[in-house]
Amino acid sequence: MSLPPLKLPRVIGHRGAATYAPENTLASMREARARGATWVEFDVKLSGDGVLIVMHDDSLKRTAGLDRLASATPWTEISTLDAGAWKAARFAGERVPSFAATITCLGDEDLGANVEIKPNPSQEAETARATVEMLRTHWPAHLPTPLLSSFKDAALAAALQAAPEYPRAILIDELEDDWRARAEAVGAVGVNTNGKKLSRARATEIKAAGYKLSVYTINDPAQARDLVSIGVDCVITDSPDVILAALGV
Ligand code: G3P
Ligand code: MG
Repeated sequence: MSLPPLKLPRVIGHRGAATYAPENTLASMREARARGATWVEFDVKLSGDGVLIVMHDDSLKRTAGLDRLASATPWTEISTLDAGAWKAARFAGERVPSFAATITCLGDEDLGANVEIKPNPSQEAETARATVEMLRTHWPAHLPTPLLSSFKDAALAAALQAAPEYPRAILIDELEDDWRARAEAVGAVGVNTNGKKLSRARATEIKAAGYKLSVYTINDPAQARDLVSIGVDCVITDSPDVILAALGV
């Protein structure tokens, strides 16, 4: 199956707009929109009873205050946790959102998404399958097709098998010479990588091979401009307002 060309914005808000609001909450998605982002990136994993939630860490401790793994905690309990107070008092009462609620929010806010599949250990395939099933049933028709990414090639392979229609990007902190073989193995159309470790030569190689190139997490205006000058298509940032202004978008 050949995918339609992946259309990405120049700037994507990281975990919403993580500089300004508690990461991966609905408040953070809305903050990204208010600061000019048209797309957001966020992390998706399974609760202990199989509900997809938006959360970066395996543990609930840092962002939701409970010293327990998400994979060992049912959604009914996760959904009561305060996911905002750690950031600032005014965000107290923000919740860990389900993926379903996040999609509804994106539809309301008119936000596209890079959905990062961030599986709990050994849940790569089931997390990917649940993610694409949710997209098939809930993704608003008026939004652009979302981009799936994951550090786990096994998750992307499962996504390819279950729902080849969703474009995929390999997600690699520091690219090695095997990047292209890894991209081809999961039918990726994009490469997402750590912008602080990306060389000009590697960026040139990726662009010459026809891939979309995105970098995370770039909050410095000069660094964002330098990366675009070497061929980067899309900058994922905690501060979308700052990087949009820096790039003149
Ligand atoms: O998807 C880009 C970026 O979010 C990957 O790293 O650890 O912030 O999820 P991390
Ligand atoms: Mg992420």
